[in-house]
Amino acid sequence: MKKNWLIGGLAGVFALAGLAFVQGGGAEGEAAVAATIQPIAFPHNQHAGSEPGQNRMDCQFCHFSAERSVDAGIPAVSSCWGCHQVVQGTTPQQQAEIAKIRGYVESGEPIPWVRIHKISDHAHFPHMRHVNAGLQCQQCHGEVQTMGTFEAPDPVWGGSNMGWCIECHRNPPEGLQKADGTPIEEASIDCAVCHY
Ligand code: HEC
Ligand code: HEC
Ligand code: HEC
Ligand code: HEC
Ligand code: HEC
Repeated sequence: MKKNWLIGGLAGVFALAGLAFVQGGGAEGEAAVAATIQPIAFPHNQHAGSEPGQNRMDCQFCHFSAERSVDAGIPAVSSCWGCHQVVQGTTPQQQAEIAKIRGYVESGEPIPWVRIHKISDHAHFPHMRHVNAGLQCQQCHGEVQTMGTFEAPDPVWGGSNMGWCIECHRNPPEGLQKADGTPIEEASIDCAVCHY
């Protein structure tokens, strides 16, 4: 009974999502997505990379809530400014990007970052459970520390496919542990842990 109710609920969610898609879609909607770039050309490699001249910053220095919250978190403009008040860039192009940070600090507005990795609203993904089990960010997001600027949402990424979640839950990589040190041999594939 409970399962039928859940599937009915999901179908309802899909009917709504379908409607939103039809309204927001079409050639115009697609062009808007393809042309999207981040408001500031933020280079992951210069901050988190380990090549000479890169800064080896820990992912969680900026994505501060990944081990204690559902969301990994995006840093506030004040934490960018903590460094960039001093690090102003050398080329005119770099200086123009840093000037945009100053603009957001002065206006008090958050930087309107474009979301890159997102699953549908009917599914639920808790970062802390995965990070605390010992999974690395890179196992799911790729080698972010080697990447330049993210330029558009990534629709073909693993997280937009339920099979990717289930495959790992059935057979997770070796070496993962619960907080009390018990090895993790599998994770739940109960519909209700991910859909509610
Ligand atoms: C100096 C701060 C900083 C560091 C260090 C950093 N990030 Fe980020 N990260 C950001 C900002 C700002 C964004 C939003 C802009 C963007 O998408 O490029 C972001 C975006 C992301 C996204 C995409 C979020 C989305 O919208 O889906 C992922 C994934 C990510 N970071 C992973 C990592 C990983 C993994 C590391 C370590 C290798 C890392 N980050 C290190 C600041 C940082
Ligand atoms: C811990 C210090 C630190 C923090 C925090 C930090 N950055 Fe940086 N950032 C740097 C350094 C160092 C460079 C490399 C500068 C260079 O090599 O000229 C850099 C480079 C950049 C660049 C490329 C332009 C340039 O000067 O090379 C941009 C854009 C940028 N950062 C934006 C941001 C944004 C946006 C945030 C907040 C989400 C942020 N940074 C947080 C230290 C930091
Ligand atoms: C480990 C997490 C997880 C479990 C367990 C899970 N799902 Fe999903 N499911 C997802 C994610 C993630 C998506 C894709 C979301 C998106 O489109 O971004 C999804 C998508 C779906 C969809 C939409 C069609 C599709 O395949 O994209 C349906 C229907 C669905 N799930 C039903 C179920 C049912 C029924 C169960 C139990 C038998 C179940 N799910 C178990 C995570 C899960
Ligand atoms: C098991 C796979 C997995 C791991 C490990 C993982 N992520 Fe994610 N990440 C996801 C999924 C799935 C989403 C989309 C969640 C959603 O849409 O609700 C996401 C979204 C994000 C986002 C954007 C939204 C947010 O949560 O703020 C950032 C930033 C991010 N991840 C950074 C990280 C960092 C940094 C690490 C390592 C500390 C990490 N992730 C570890 C799968 C993972
Ligand atoms: C690379 C492996 C991996 C991937 C990919 C992955 N997970 Fe997980 N997930 C785990 C592990 C391992 C645990 C168990 C952690 C524990 O036992 O503390 C877990 C736990 C969870 C839980 C908590 C389950 C509970 O019993 O309360 C949820 C919810 C969840 N994952 C959702 C997702 C969704 C949604 C996706 C896909 C978008 C996903 N996971 C992708 C490995 C993964």
